[in-house]
Amino acid sequence: MLRITGLTHSYSGGHKALDGLDLTVPDGQLLSIVGPSGCGKSTLLRCIAGLIRPTGGALELDGAPVTGVPDDLAVVFQDYSRSLFPWLTVRDNVAMPLRRRGGSRAERRAAAEEALESVGLPDASRQYPWQLSGGMQQRVSIARALAYRPSLLLMDEPFGSVDAQTREDLEDLLLQVHRAAKMTILLVTHDIDESVYVGDRVVVLNRSPARVHADIPVALPAVRDQIETRGLPEFVRLRAEVGRLVRGGARIPGAAPATAAQRGGTSGAGEPEADNPPETGPG
Ligand SMILES: Nc1ncnc2c1ncn2[C@@H]1O[C@H](COP(=O)(O)OP(=O)(O)OP(=O)(O)O)[C@@H](O)[C@H]1O
Ligand SMILES: [Mg+2]
Repeated sequence: MLRITGLTHSYSGGHKALDGLDLTVPDGQLLSIVGPSGCGKSTLLRCIAGLIRPTGGALELDGAPVTGVPDDLAVVFQDYSRSLFPWLTVRDNVAMPLRRRGGSRAERRAAAEEALESVGLPDASRQYPWQLSGGMQQRVSIARALAYRPSLLLMDEPFGSVDAQTREDLEDLLLQVHRAAKMTILLVTHDIDESVYVGDRVVVLNRSPARVHADIPVALPAVRDQIETRGLPEFVRLRAEVGRLVRGGARIPGAAPATAAQRGGTSGAGEPEADNPPETGPG
């Protein structure tokens, strides 16, 4: 469980990026985070990753305060071109963080090969990152995070710079991995459709300095499909609601998620639970 209370961060120049942000994320949830550009999403992820020390508030992971980079954490940044080492092969890029986990070199390489296979790159392991397309490089970054088997995965606009088809494939890969590994995932995205499509829950942040503006459970069937899910009335409703909220609107009173019967969907394991009641932000 990740518990964030009153998180505040002012950069050294005095710019306040976060202002009293409260957020609790239960284990195994896939939480989408959206908000206006520059509102503080990356700052929030950097604080959770222990990369910057917030100037106020508290961050707790599984009951312990976050004081440095947590052990069981992996991060996927938007800019894959700067996150892979050009002088290492793809396999060694993926295997490198595993040193922290111990084990022999052969074991680390085997784990890397397995992760590369899971992202659909079984043949790329001996190539160098610069020999791959942008989408393939981003798959390598994701494979590196997965090979580490984190309990918490932070992703900052991970699919921002790939083409539409690759983006859909990566979204489905993320859902598949989330189902299989049951890790907690925080995904920052600018794409409102994506936030709803992959999320168990969508949190909308305020314009800078960031706070939680709205917290929306995504009551869609757990198994998602690019064509079918996006055609569901509940998907269309959620997308419109999140879009309105990102533009600064308030949550419409009584706009409760549809029941399973209304959306004609299935329910079952993995169905999101409304951990926090939806809240209306200060606007
Ligand atoms: N290292 C820094 N020093 C000073 N100010 C910063 C620094 N990093 C970010 N900021 C400022 O803090 C605010 C929040 O930035 P942040 O990168 O967290 O926003 P974001 O929501 O991730 O934006 P985007 O959607 O464009 O990625 C911005 O006004 C930004 O200019
Ligand atoms: Mg950002």
